[in-house]
Amino acid sequence: MNYQWYPGHMMKAKRMMQENIKLIDLVIELVDARIPLSSRNPDIDGLCAGKSRLILLNKADLADSRWNQQWTEYFKQKGFHVLEINAKNKTGMKGVQSAVREACLEKIERNRRRGIINRPVRAMVVGIPNVGKSTFINAVAGRTCAKTGNKPGVTKGKQWIRLNKDLELLDTPGILWPKFDAQETGRNLAFIGSMNDEILQKTELAVELLTFLSMHYREELQARYQFSEAGAEPLDLLTEICESRKCYKKGGEVDHEKGASLLLEDFRSGRIGTITLERPEKTT
Ligand code: G4P
Repeated sequence: MNYQWYPGHMMKAKRMMQENIKLIDLVIELVDARIPLSSRNPDIDGLCAGKSRLILLNKADLADSRWNQQWTEYFKQKGFHVLEINAKNKTGMKGVQSAVREACLEKIERNRRRGIINRPVRAMVVGIPNVGKSTFINAVAGRTCAKTGNKPGVTKGKQWIRLNKDLELLDTPGILWPKFDAQETGRNLAFIGSMNDEILQKTELAVELLTFLSMHYREELQARYQFSEAGAEPLDLLTEICESRKCYKKGGEVDHEKGASLLLEDFRSGRIGTITLERPEKTT
């Protein structure tokens, strides 16, 4: 598959992250709750070695709450601090401060023992494009955010957002790119719309999505589309969607591509329901 981002951008973003990582105590990593592993860049663990880590399962509003819980447990068992959030409408955001404090407790204690007090924890927000980094930074900073300006030793132009006396956030998020080693990862990213749809085989993607939904979210699928025969083949389900939504080509032929776009849009915006595409047990 082909993607909408380029090696030049990736190199620049990675360099920027490497440069910034030295300055921070805590890495706040956003993942998409619908695909918590596919939306991570595996290099991040190496890049952030020695830093406190907080994983935010963002877009939790679009994901299945049962699986949000399972994924929270999964990451906790791996030693991360974890929180489910919806950065867009700010659900779960109240817990961020205490999760940050908890994640950095050791560091805060160490500083205290050394007589360093009033030194705020510095955090950087990282994640793949479109995972919600900017939305999160805006939500957590709110209107009261005060820019603390340049600091000695900090590359010119770098801004820190002072959230309170204990926490500062680097206002530029670290952009990571997903890895597509496994075909499943690329497909999961395509499902949630993290890739340029223009270059995707939309019909194929829609059929794959219908296959998954028929298996795991049959009731939601049926409630949304009222199929005449719910257990039909995925391509037939897509045809039915096309017919009920009047997706036809000029000659009257069914326009699968158009129906596929409708289905994907319904899924991405949560209209089919709250759906999680990835399961933790498969990956452990
Ligand atoms: P980025 O900086 O990581 O690239 O992501 P950004 O904040 O720009 O967010 C990407 C899209 O995801 C935005 O939608 C944003 O509103 C949406 N989003 C972020 N967090 C959440 C969340 O927790 N739940 C839901 N449902 N959506 C979220 P957009 O369509 O590009 O913009 P907009 O029309 O929503 O403003």
